[in-house]
Amino acid sequence: MEAFGYGWLMSTEPQMTDFGFRRVPQADKQARVREVFDSVAGRYDIMNDVMSGGLHRLWKRRMIEALYLAPQSSGQASPITMLDVAGGTGDIANLALRRAQSQAINLNIKVLDINHEMLKVGQARANNSANSNNISFIHANAEALPIADSSTDIYTIAFGMRNITQRHKALAEARRVLKPGGRFVCLEFSHLPTPFTQKLYDAYSFQIIPAMGKLIAGDDAPYRYLVESIRQFPSAPVYAAALEEAGFARVGYSRLSGGIAALHYGWRL
Ligand SMILES: C[S@@+](CC[C@H](N)C(=O)[O-])C[C@H]1O[C@@H](n2cnc3c(N)ncnc32)[C@H](O)[C@@H]1O
Repeated sequence: MEAFGYGWLMSTEPQMTDFGFRRVPQADKQARVREVFDSVAGRYDIMNDVMSGGLHRLWKRRMIEALYLAPQSSGQASPITMLDVAGGTGDIANLALRRAQSQAINLNIKVLDINHEMLKVGQARANNSANSNNISFIHANAEALPIADSSTDIYTIAFGMRNITQRHKALAEARRVLKPGGRFVCLEFSHLPTPFTQKLYDAYSFQIIPAMGKLIAGDDAPYRYLVESIRQFPSAPVYAAALEEAGFARVGYSRLSGGIAALHYGWRL
Protein backbone atom coordinates (compact mmCIF):
# COMPACT_ATOMS: atom_id res chain seq x y z
CA MET A 1 0.00 0.00 0.00
CA GLU A 2 1.38 3.44 -0.82
CA ALA A 3 1.49 6.03 1.94
CA PHE A 4 0.57 9.12 -0.01
CA GLY A 5 -2.49 7.92 -1.91
CA TYR A 6 -5.97 6.76 -1.04
CA GLY A 7 -4.75 3.26 -0.17
CA TRP A 8 -5.67 3.74 3.46
CA LEU A 9 -9.30 4.37 2.48
CA MET A 10 -9.72 1.73 -0.22
CA SER A 11 -7.45 -1.22 0.31
CA THR A 12 -7.34 -3.87 -2.40
CA GLU A 13 -7.12 -6.40 0.45
CA PRO A 14 -10.37 -5.58 2.24
CA GLN A 15 -9.69 -7.71 5.31
CA MET A 16 -6.14 -6.43 5.82
CA THR A 17 -4.74 -3.19 7.15
CA ASP A 18 -1.42 -1.64 8.06
CA PHE A 19 0.23 -1.99 11.44
CA GLY A 20 3.34 0.08 10.92
CA PHE A 21 4.98 -1.43 7.83
CA ARG A 22 3.33 -4.81 8.33
CA ARG A 23 0.04 -5.95 6.79
CA VAL A 24 -2.16 -7.55 9.42
CA PRO A 25 -5.77 -8.77 9.49
CA GLN A 26 -8.07 -5.84 10.32
CA ALA A 27 -9.42 -7.82 13.27
CA ASP A 28 -5.91 -7.91 14.84
CA LYS A 29 -4.84 -4.29 14.57
CA GLN A 30 -6.72 -2.94 17.57
CA ALA A 31 -5.19 -5.52 19.94
CA ARG A 32 -1.73 -4.76 18.60
CA VAL A 33 -2.24 -1.00 19.04
CA ARG A 34 -3.53 -1.66 22.55
CA GLU A 35 -0.36 -3.58 23.40
CA VAL A 36 1.73 -0.62 22.19
CA PHE A 37 -0.09 1.88 24.40
CA ASP A 38 -0.34 -0.51 27.37
CA SER A 39 3.42 -0.73 27.31
CA VAL A 40 4.08 3.03 26.95
CA ALA A 41 1.27 4.52 29.10
CA GLY A 42 3.38 5.18 32.22
CA ARG A 43 6.14 6.90 30.26
CA TYR A 44 4.00 8.33 27.44
CA ASP A 45 4.19 12.00 28.47
CA ILE A 46 7.93 12.08 29.13
CA MET A 47 8.71 10.16 25.93
CA ASN A 48 6.67 12.70 23.94
CA ASP A 49 8.89 15.46 25.26
CA VAL A 50 12.09 13.54 24.64
CA MET A 51 11.29 12.40 21.10
CA SER A 52 9.83 15.64 19.80
CA GLY A 53 12.27 17.88 21.71
CA GLY A 54 9.20 19.49 23.30
CA LEU A 55 7.68 20.37 19.90
CA HIS A 56 4.49 18.44 20.64
CA ARG A 57 3.67 21.09 23.25
CA LEU A 58 3.81 23.86 20.62
CA TRP A 59 1.70 21.81 18.21
CA LYS A 60 -0.89 21.09 20.89
CA ARG A 61 -1.09 24.80 21.72
CA ARG A 62 -1.71 25.51 18.03
CA MET A 63 -4.48 22.93 18.16
CA ILE A 64 -6.13 24.72 21.09
CA GLU A 65 -6.01 28.01 19.15
CA ALA A 66 -7.72 26.28 16.23
CA LEU A 67 -10.72 25.42 18.44
CA TYR A 68 -11.76 29.11 18.44
CA LEU A 69 -12.83 28.95 22.07
CA ALA A 70 -14.60 32.21 22.85
CA PRO A 71 -16.63 33.50 25.77
CA GLN A 72 -20.31 32.73 25.33
CA SER A 73 -22.91 35.42 24.98
CA SER A 74 -24.44 36.26 28.37
CA GLY A 75 -27.75 34.48 27.59
CA GLN A 76 -26.03 31.16 26.72
CA ALA A 77 -26.40 28.98 29.82
CA SER A 78 -25.22 25.58 28.58
CA PRO A 79 -21.50 24.81 28.47
CA ILE A 80 -19.52 24.27 25.28
CA THR A 81 -19.14 20.51 24.81
CA MET A 82 -15.90 19.00 23.54
CA LEU A 83 -15.09 15.38 22.79
CA ASP A 84 -11.38 14.55 22.75
CA VAL A 85 -11.10 11.21 20.97
CA ALA A 86 -8.02 9.03 21.50
CA GLY A 87 -7.44 11.49 24.32
CA GLY A 88 -5.04 9.17 26.18
CA THR A 89 -3.45 10.88 29.15
CA GLY A 90 -5.61 14.00 28.71
CA ASP A 91 -3.04 16.49 27.38
CA ILE A 92 -5.41 18.20 24.95
CA ALA A 93 -8.27 18.26 27.45
CA ASN A 94 -6.07 19.86 30.12
CA LEU A 95 -4.77 22.51 27.75
CA ALA A 96 -8.29 23.32 26.52
CA LEU A 97 -9.63 23.54 30.08
CA ARG A 98 -6.80 25.85 31.12
CA ARG A 99 -7.52 28.09 28.14
CA ALA A 100 -11.25 28.07 28.92
CA GLN A 101 -10.62 28.93 32.55
CA SER A 102 -8.41 31.89 31.64
CA GLN A 103 -11.23 33.31 29.48
CA ALA A 104 -14.12 32.41 31.83
CA ILE A 105 -15.52 29.98 29.25
CA ASN A 106 -17.81 27.22 30.44
CA LEU A 107 -16.31 24.11 28.79
CA ASN A 108 -17.12 20.44 29.44
CA ILE A 109 -14.80 17.80 28.01
CA LYS A 110 -15.21 14.09 27.50
CA VAL A 111 -11.92 12.29 26.98
CA LEU A 112 -12.48 9.06 25.07
CA ASP A 113 -9.90 6.36 24.52
CA ILE A 114 -9.82 2.65 23.78
CA ASN A 115 -6.96 2.04 26.20
CA HIS A 116 -7.59 1.66 29.95
CA GLU A 117 -3.95 2.27 30.91
CA MET A 118 -3.78 5.61 29.08
CA LEU A 119 -7.14 6.69 30.57
CA LYS A 120 -5.96 5.72 34.08
CA VAL A 121 -2.98 8.08 33.75
CA GLY A 122 -5.29 10.82 32.43
CA GLN A 123 -7.81 10.30 35.20
CA ALA A 124 -5.14 10.49 37.92
CA ARG A 125 -3.91 13.77 36.40
CA ALA A 126 -7.44 15.17 36.28
CA ASN A 127 -8.15 14.21 39.90
CA ASN A 128 -5.18 16.36 40.95
CA SER A 129 -6.31 19.38 38.94
CA ALA A 130 -8.69 22.23 39.60
CA ASN A 131 -10.73 21.29 36.52
CA SER A 132 -11.87 17.85 37.63
CA ASN A 133 -15.57 18.80 37.54
CA ASN A 134 -15.38 19.69 33.85
CA ILE A 135 -13.74 16.53 32.58
CA SER A 136 -14.96 12.95 32.29
CA PHE A 137 -13.42 9.81 30.80
CA ILE A 138 -15.00 7.26 28.48
CA HIS A 139 -13.54 3.91 27.51
CA ALA A 140 -14.67 3.35 23.91
CA ASN A 141 -13.65 2.94 20.29
CA ALA A 142 -13.52 5.98 17.99
CA GLU A 143 -15.22 3.84 15.34
CA ALA A 144 -18.41 3.49 17.44
CA LEU A 145 -18.86 6.47 19.76
CA PRO A 146 -21.31 6.04 22.66
CA ILE A 147 -22.33 9.68 22.14
CA ALA A 148 -25.67 11.08 20.92
CA ASP A 149 -26.10 12.49 17.42
CA SER A 150 -25.52 16.24 17.03
CA SER A 151 -24.57 16.69 20.69
CA THR A 152 -20.99 18.00 20.55
CA ASP A 153 -19.62 21.47 19.72
CA ILE A 154 -15.98 20.44 19.21
CA TYR A 155 -14.41 17.11 18.22
CA THR A 156 -10.65 16.82 18.66
CA ILE A 157 -8.24 13.98 17.97
CA ALA A 158 -4.49 14.39 18.51
CA PHE A 159 -2.05 11.74 17.28
CA GLY A 160 -4.87 9.21 17.41
CA MET A 161 -6.19 8.94 13.86
CA ARG A 162 -3.30 6.93 12.45
CA ASN A 163 -3.81 4.26 15.13
CA ILE A 164 -7.44 3.64 14.22
CA THR A 165 -8.20 0.58 12.11
CA GLN A 166 -11.21 1.85 10.13
CA ARG A 167 -10.59 5.57 9.85
CA HIS A 168 -13.52 6.21 7.53
CA LYS A 169 -15.79 4.94 10.33
CA ALA A 170 -14.13 7.25 12.85
CA LEU A 171 -14.67 10.22 10.53
CA ALA A 172 -18.33 9.30 9.99
CA GLU A 173 -18.75 9.07 13.76
CA ALA A 174 -17.05 12.44 14.26
CA ARG A 175 -19.49 14.04 11.85
CA ARG A 176 -22.47 12.27 13.41
CA VAL A 177 -21.81 13.49 16.97
CA LEU A 178 -21.00 17.09 16.00
CA LYS A 179 -23.77 19.65 16.11
CA PRO A 180 -24.42 21.55 12.89
CA GLY A 181 -21.83 24.33 13.06
CA GLY A 182 -19.52 22.08 15.11
CA ARG A 183 -15.75 22.08 14.68
CA PHE A 184 -13.51 19.09 13.80
CA VAL A 185 -9.80 19.44 14.57
CA CYS A 186 -7.22 16.71 14.09
CA LEU A 187 -3.53 16.94 14.92
CA GLU A 188 -1.43 14.23 13.35
CA PHE A 189 2.10 13.54 12.18
CA SER A 190 2.54 14.23 8.51
CA HIS A 191 5.06 14.27 5.66
CA LEU A 192 7.66 16.84 4.74
CA PRO A 193 7.06 18.56 1.44
CA THR A 194 10.45 17.90 -0.23
CA PRO A 195 12.21 14.54 -0.72
CA PHE A 196 15.44 15.95 0.77
CA THR A 197 13.89 17.10 4.07
CA GLN A 198 11.82 13.90 4.23
CA LYS A 199 15.02 11.87 3.90
CA LEU A 200 16.68 13.75 6.77
CA TYR A 201 13.58 13.33 8.89
CA ASP A 202 13.38 9.62 8.06
CA ALA A 203 17.01 9.17 9.07
CA TYR A 204 16.25 10.74 12.45
CA SER A 205 12.99 8.82 12.90
CA PHE A 206 14.21 5.37 11.97
CA GLN A 207 17.70 5.54 13.51
CA ILE A 208 17.21 7.65 16.62
CA ILE A 209 13.66 7.28 17.91
CA PRO A 210 13.55 3.47 18.41
CA ALA A 211 17.04 3.65 19.95
CA MET A 212 15.86 6.31 22.40
CA GLY A 213 12.83 4.17 23.20
CA LYS A 214 15.12 1.27 24.05
CA LEU A 215 17.39 3.43 26.16
CA ILE A 216 14.74 5.32 28.12
CA ALA A 217 11.71 3.02 28.14
CA GLY A 218 13.57 -0.30 27.77
CA ASP A 219 11.80 -1.37 24.55
CA ASP A 220 12.19 -0.21 20.97
CA ALA A 221 9.18 -2.03 19.45
CA PRO A 222 6.49 0.55 20.36
CA TYR A 223 8.69 3.33 18.99
CA ARG A 224 9.38 1.43 15.80
CA TYR A 225 5.61 1.14 15.37
CA LEU A 226 5.31 4.88 16.03
CA VAL A 227 7.69 5.89 13.24
CA GLU A 228 6.35 3.31 10.80
CA SER A 229 2.74 4.36 11.43
CA ILE A 230 3.70 8.00 10.82
CA ARG A 231 5.18 7.03 7.47
CA GLN A 232 2.01 5.10 6.54
CA PHE A 233 -0.37 7.97 7.31
CA PRO A 234 -1.49 9.94 4.24
CA SER A 235 0.00 13.30 3.29
CA ALA A 236 -1.85 16.45 4.40
CA PRO A 237 -3.63 17.11 1.06
CA VAL A 238 -4.75 13.48 0.78
CA TYR A 239 -6.10 13.47 4.31
CA ALA A 240 -7.85 16.80 3.68
CA ALA A 241 -9.57 15.16 0.69
CA ALA A 242 -10.69 12.32 2.97
CA LEU A 243 -12.24 14.86 5.35
CA GLU A 244 -14.17 16.41 2.46
CA GLU A 245 -15.27 12.96 1.37
CA ALA A 246 -16.54 12.33 4.92
CA GLY A 247 -18.80 15.36 4.57
CA PHE A 248 -16.88 18.09 6.39
CA ALA A 249 -17.07 21.61 5.02
CA ARG A 250 -14.47 24.37 4.71
CA VAL A 251 -11.72 21.80 5.21
CA GLY A 252 -8.16 23.05 5.58
CA TYR A 253 -4.81 22.22 7.09
CA SER A 254 -1.67 23.91 8.38
CA ARG A 255 1.71 22.25 8.27
CA LEU A 256 3.54 22.47 11.59
CA SER A 257 7.34 22.58 11.97
CA GLY A 258 7.83 22.34 8.21
CA GLY A 259 5.42 19.42 7.84
CA ILE A 260 6.50 17.09 10.65
CA ALA A 261 2.94 17.41 11.91
CA ALA A 262 -0.23 18.89 10.43
CA LEU A 263 -3.32 20.43 11.90
CA HIS A 264 -6.46 19.49 9.97
CA TYR A 265 -9.79 21.17 10.45
CA GLY A 266 -13.29 21.34 9.09
CA TRP A 267 -16.84 22.13 10.07
CA ARG A 268 -20.01 20.14 10.18
CA LEU A 269 -22.64 22.25 8.44
C1 LIG B 1 -0.35 8.69 20.51
S1 LIG B 1 -1.65 8.54 21.67
C2 LIG B 1 -2.31 10.18 21.71
C3 LIG B 1 -2.81 10.59 23.06
C4 LIG B 1 -3.21 12.07 23.19
N1 LIG B 1 -4.26 12.41 22.27
C5 LIG B 1 -2.02 12.98 23.00
O1 LIG B 1 -2.01 13.72 22.03
O2 LIG B 1 -1.12 12.97 23.82
C6 LIG B 1 -2.84 7.66 20.71
C7 LIG B 1 -4.04 7.21 21.50
O3 LIG B 1 -5.00 6.67 20.59
C8 LIG B 1 -5.72 5.67 21.29
N2 LIG B 1 -6.48 4.86 20.32
C9 LIG B 1 -5.97 4.01 19.38
N3 LIG B 1 -6.97 3.47 18.67
C10 LIG B 1 -8.13 3.97 19.16
C11 LIG B 1 -9.50 3.79 18.84
N4 LIG B 1 -9.87 2.96 17.85
N5 LIG B 1 -10.43 4.46 19.55
C12 LIG B 1 -10.07 5.29 20.56
N6 LIG B 1 -8.78 5.51 20.92
C13 LIG B 1 -7.81 4.87 20.23
C14 LIG B 1 -4.62 4.94 22.02
O4 LIG B 1 -5.12 4.11 23.04
C15 LIG B 1 -3.76 6.10 22.50
O5 LIG B 1 -4.15 6.51 23.79
